[in-house]
Parts: sequence; structure tokens; C-alpha cells
Amino acid sequence: MKAYPYQISSLSEYQDAYQQSMENPAQFWAHIAEHFHWHKKWTPGAELNWNFSEPKVEWFKGAQLNITENLLDRHLADKAHHPALLWEPNAPDEAGRLLTYKKLYEKVCQFAHVLKNNGVQKGDRVCIYMGMIPELAIAVLACARIGAIHSVVFGGFSAQSIADRLYDAQATFIITCDGAYRGAKDIPLKSVIDDALIGNHVVEKVIVCTRTRTPVSMLKGRDLWWEDEMQRVEEMGLTDFPAEPMDAEDPLFILYTSGSTGKPKGVVHTVAGYLLYTHYTFVNVFQYQPGWVHFCTADIGWITGHSYIVYGPLSAGATSLLFEGVPTFPDAGRFWDIVDKYKVNILYTAPTAIRSLMGFGLGPVQGKNLSSLKVLGTVGEPINEEAWHWYDQHIGKGKCPIVDTWWQTETGGCLISNLAGITPAKPGWATLPMPGVKLLLVDENGKEVVAQGEETVSGNLCIAAPWPAILRTTYGDHQRCRTNYFAAYPDLYFTGDGALRDKDGNYRITGRVDDVLNVSGHRIGTAEVENAINMHAGVVESAVVGYPHEVKGQGIYAYVIYQGSHAQDTHGSGDLVRKDILQTVTRIIGAIAKPDKIQFVSGLPKTRSGKIMRRILRKIAEGETDQLGDTSTLLDPGVVDEIKRGRV
Ligand code: PRX
Repeated sequence: MKAYPYQISSLSEYQDAYQQSMENPAQFWAHIAEHFHWHKKWTPGAELNWNFSEPKVEWFKGAQLNITENLLDRHLADKAHHPALLWEPNAPDEAGRLLTYKKLYEKVCQFAHVLKNNGVQKGDRVCIYMGMIPELAIAVLACARIGAIHSVVFGGFSAQSIADRLYDAQATFIITCDGAYRGAKDIPLKSVIDDALIGNHVVEKVIVCTRTRTPVSMLKGRDLWWEDEMQRVEEMGLTDFPAEPMDAEDPLFILYTSGSTGKPKGVVHTVAGYLLYTHYTFVNVFQYQPGWVHFCTADIGWITGHSYIVYGPLSAGATSLLFEGVPTFPDAGRFWDIVDKYKVNILYTAPTAIRSLMGFGLGPVQGKNLSSLKVLGTVGEPINEEAWHWYDQHIGKGKCPIVDTWWQTETGGCLISNLAGITPAKPGWATLPMPGVKLLLVDENGKEVVAQGEETVSGNLCIAAPWPAILRTTYGDHQRCRTNYFAAYPDLYFTGDGALRDKDGNYRITGRVDDVLNVSGHRIGTAEVENAINMHAGVVESAVVGYPHEVKGQGIYAYVIYQGSHAQDTHGSGDLVRKDILQTVTRIIGAIAKPDKIQFVSGLPKTRSGKIMRRILRKIAEGETDQLGDTSTLLDPGVVDEIKRGRV
């Protein structure tokens, strides 16, 4: 059933939509944009202006809107009492929460007052570092309501990572919690923020929401309790806040992501294009039907949570389920219990979660009903066929289409995916581009790879034209955006991924072709991990590569030249030094970047010009020690044998 005029309901409709979007992208997206609430419409001709050489991309520039009016206000007429957010806490015996569209609207407006009362202005950067509680979504939306730019930082990042992000964005406000619950752990968020703020003279206020009631130190004049601030607004009887009119191209948020250099980039998305694209992909990829409950298991700290917990679902008036905890707490049946408890219709998760749950066998699935499920989705990394079939058979019971959605922080929403039950699925393949997405494969010289006959071809995945949610810049450094994404091949956006394309035009992503790892669906730059390891006293140099990991997809393998004292290592095995290095990485980046394996080496394979031959290190980490290729150009070929022998 077509719930929206632009919801694609057959393969031929998909083909028509795709063709129209290629022939006249401006008109195609303007037809959809007509359905949103605008303060001021665009002038004809302003639908799209772009070139990839600067790069410059402008959708509907000059038009005005506020994204929260499209997420909240416009649903108040017919969905005021409809659940917008459902919240499942970490502990299953704690009561959950339900926020109707009206309630969410009121809370967002009230918190918008709190922000304004504390001096936050349009365009200010607000860093949000919270656990997965409804107040996180409220904080995000309140920023959008007043036109402040949110920069959400995932709750697993260290104080140092936050400090770097605060500095890069010159953020003046922080919203955090006393602590967060994740499985059996409590994470002391406020105390991490306090560490991040040592030496920071830019942040003016920190608003702290109570969750764990972990003891915190509240600094006079700087730190405020969320509840006190909200109470003041409530006592004044305020439940509305006039939405700030924003230019279509005003920044909506910054989200930091890893690249091949050591420093994460602040990807910037703008208001109208992001709204349009997350909405369109939400209703089409998942074939969302009114009344459905959507459960995206990501954290709002990542792009998946931004686009498919908050913005996409709420733009459609859907019910979005927010889960505070982890899939294995208190046991590996938690996702399935949640599906049954809330009668979830769409389940969107990562292959790494599926693989990890598969590892517990069928016990945790048995006795679960799961009959509410209609559509399953995956995101973040390639899904292996075994996991795909397990998901299909044991969770979808063979009756739910699975969408394999390929996209990136920079793309804002899904670019390649089958449409649930509408276009064919192919296990392991993300399949077809969304309307508006002009893909091509190129070889390393930038020459387009074209199939001869019915062969499957492979190449570097590029995009030749802008879709509405393409990143606009990297915060504070536009040149970096150009060199990272638009300079490898002239006039193309380069994704950093390799891909295959079959005779029917389906794409299969083969993984990153740059020095970026994908660990449990999280992007981590090898240079970032190396920088962190190198900060440990005694480490002379290190080289980090990925290797196939059964659950995480990729594991982190670090080769380390260590010349520090081993005196503290009571076993002499290097294990204590390894632990010290892990501790250093946790401090500098966060636990997600901890190497799975550390091998101490006396040297690294380098060319005469001093470049580390990562290809060789990758092969050794993968266990392919016999096929190292040509090592004759190495400065010291002997080091390779030593490394092979010492493989861990
Ligand atoms: O390598 C691709 C992989 O994840 C990268 C993007 O990471 P991030 O910006 O953190 O966003 C993840 C969530 C959208 C891509 O360059 N990736 C993402 N989805 C898939 C995928 N690889 C294969 N199949 C996917 N469905």
C-alpha cells in the first residue's frame, strides 16, 4: 500500500523514479520537497546548484524552513497522541517510557527555551555527549529548533577525543549526563567531560541530565542540572517555542568521522537536503507503513542513529524505538524480547550484532514470537551470507524482506539498498542505487570500468552527481573536504570503498580501499590508532592494519617497535606492556579502537624511501604468509621473516 505519493511500490516504479531522478534531479526532488512545511519556498532555478571541483552543492538555497516543524509540529494535527518515541532502558525490569508527538514537541520546545535562556544562539556549536535516553533526542531536536549546530559525540569516546572535537568545532555548550548505563557497565559521562574541559576556555556552560546519579562535581557558574533548568521553564507554563527559520543550506549538524589521516573530520550536513533525503529513504527502503514501530539498534552518536532513529522516522510520523542497552544484556535474547514487547515491525541492525548473537546458538531465539516483524535491515559493513540466512530464517522466519543498506556518514542516508519487498534482494549485495544516486566504478587511474557483455566488474566506487544529503564541507576546513572526497578523481565523489557490479546493475561492497578499518561497523582510521599507540612511552613506531574477524568483521592488528623498559613486565612475555598500550589507546581514542592483537617487532618493512609496506603487514595479519608478493624493494627484507615468525 502506498502510504506516501512518492512511496515506490513496484520494480517498474523504481525504474521510472530512478530514470526521472537522473534526467531532471532538480524537478524530481522538488516534487518531494513540496510535501514539507516551508517558511519560504525556493525560487525557480534555485533547486540545485553544484560543482564537484570546489566542491559546492546547494539544494533549495534561499528557501527557509525549520526541520523540527517537519518532524513535530506538522504531526500534531493528526498524531498528537501517537507515540513518537518509545524507550527501553538498559535493565529490563526498569519501566520504559513513551513520548507522544505532543509530549516530544513540548519537551523539545521547553529545552529550546533552556538553551536560549543560557545564551545559545543560532549557529553556535553544541556538543552532545549522552547515553541513549529520550533526552538525547530532545537535546538534538532542541538545537535544531533554535538553529544551533549539534555535534553528537558517541558515549564511548575518551576525554581526549571529546577535547579534540570541542576544539575543532569551537563548541561553546555541552549537554551531557551524569552517567550512562550500558549492559553491566556504568560510564561516568560527566567526569569524562570534566577531563575533556581541562584547559578549555571556549565552553561556557555544561547542562547535565540525571540518569545514573553517579556522583559528579558541578562547577559553579558553568555546570547546570537539566532538571532544574527544565523546571524553571515548566513553571512559567511554556510549552511552545517558535522555530527558528533556517536557510535550506544552513548547517544542521556536525558529525565527526575517521578518515585515512590521524585526525577525524567534522562532516557537515545541512537542513533541507538532509530532511528530504532521510525522509525519502526511510519511507522507501523500509517501505514504512503508518502505525509501524521502527527499531534501529544503532546509537544516536553515529550517523545511523541520527538518520534512522531521529530524523527519518520522525519526519514520517513513525514510532521510533530507542534502546539504552546492549544486545547481550542481561542475555543474548534481549533484542527478541524487545521486538515482542513493543511489537516491532522494522528491525534495523548491524551484521556484527547478528554474528555475535548467532554465536549464542538458537537458545535465546526459542520461545520468542517475533511475528510482528515485517522488514529487516542491515547497515555498516558487508553482511556474510551465513549471517544473512540466519537473520532471514530465524528472525524473519523467511517472511521478512531484508534490506542491505550501504551508505556513509558523509552520504547522510542510504545510497544503495534494495527496497523491502519491492526490488529484489541478493544476499551479500546492497543491490541497486536509490533514485538520485549516480554511481560508477573507476579503476585506479580514474577510468570508468565498463562491463563487456554479462561479466561482473570491480572498481572503486564513485558518485557523479549530488543527492540532497551529500556532505557540504568538513567543518572549518573546506579544502580538506575537497582533498578527501573530490580530488582522487576529477568531478567525482570518491567513497573510499571498492565494489563489484553484476550484469543486472547490482552492487556488492567489497570494503574500504583506503587506510580506514571497519570494526564492528565502526569506522576507525589506522593512522589514528597508530598515533595513539605511539604516544605510549617506550613505543618507537607502530603500524596498524585490519584482519578478518569472525564477529567484528575486521579486527585491529598492531605491529609495535617497543624499546621501553620491560622491567615492569613481571612475566617477560610483553603482556603487561600490551595492556599498557591498550590502556593508552583507550585514553586517547576510546575502547572501540583497542587493537585485538599486538605483535612486538624489531623493525617494519619499509621501502628505501621510508614508506611502510602495509600490503605485506596486512597479508601477514591475515595469515597469508606465503603470498607476500615482491619484497625486493624493501630496505631490509630480513625483517619480513622475523615478523612472519612472530605472528600472534
Ligand atoms: O565501508 C563502508 C561501510 O561503512 C563505511 C561507512 O562508515 P560510516 O560512515 O561509519 O557509516 C556507517 C553507517 C552508514 C562505508 O564506507 N558500510 C556501510 N554500510 C555498508 C558498508 N559496507 C558494506 N555493506 C553495507 N551495507
